Amino acid sequence: MAASALISIMLAAARKAGRSLARDFGEVEHLQVSLKGPGNFVSAADKRAEQILYDELSKARHGYGFLMEEAGAVEGPDKSHRWLIDPLDGTTNFLHSIPHFAISIALQRDGELVAGVIYNPANGDIFTAEKGKGAFFNDRRIRVAARSRLDDCVIVTGVPHFGKPGHEAYLAQLSRVMGAVAGIRRSGSAALDLAWTAAGRYDGYWEPSLQAWDIAAGIVILKEAGGFVSDMAGGRSMLETGSIIAGNETIHRNLRKLVGAPPAV
Ligand code: IPD
Ligand code: CA
Ligand code: CA
Repeated sequence: MAASALISIMLAAARKAGRSLARDFGEVEHLQVSLKGPGNFVSAADKRAEQILYDELSKARHGYGFLMEEAGAVEGPDKSHRWLIDPLDGTTNFLHSIPHFAISIALQRDGELVAGVIYNPANGDIFTAEKGKGAFFNDRRIRVAARSRLDDCVIVTGVPHFGKPGHEAYLAQLSRVMGAVAGIRRSGSAALDLAWTAAGRYDGYWEPSLQAWDIAAGIVILKEAGGFVSDMAGGRSMLETGSIIAGNETIHRNLRKLVGAPPAV
């Protein structure tokens, strides 16, 4: 299916920033052995990619606002539209030369998520969706997996680091889910976790303690792939709470019951 003007703009920006990230990814390997390590280099790569996304999207759509991981919020004269951007989701993977990371771009119109693009420049994988128009992986229509029994399911998750609020509660959730499913995965990129769940590779996903830019594009793609998504309490405040549970209708419901609402911290 031919991409709409909006998706084409998002893709062009993602590809341009992706070329920069891919070049830098090629360098990371050489830096692993240096004394200083690649930490500073990766943070510069992250900022370079974000700047490209900001420049390209500002040129293509004048006046839209931005919420970006590195530069934060930038207000635009157009109060109806806002880009939510993570220029490099999966930083730890990138730092370790693991080719599982992505650029994530979403568009909000009047507060509603209407389009998402997730692009992994290491392997060329592109996931896109626009509200009401379906979700795609490299131009092929995708749908969430159809499995309905948790014990057949592979569930992906993300671990809030030790010291972050909710770490202990998370370990209790993990132990409950591990005992009920076929397998657990931890990939290191929330954006790709949602995209891969949308494509039916994983059957479900949950994670607490995220940021809006980690999940905004993935939410659009997951929903357009027929998936169900909510915050931990079953509400729609994923962007505000940073907690998310996703899957097909049955897996979403059962996973949510199993994970349960986190205790207040
Ligand atoms: C991280 C990744 C990871 C998730 C972390 C995020 P970053 O984003 O999405 O999978 O578990 O909570 O912070 O730091 O690589 O952009
Ligand atoms: Ca990031
Ligand atoms: Ca991120």
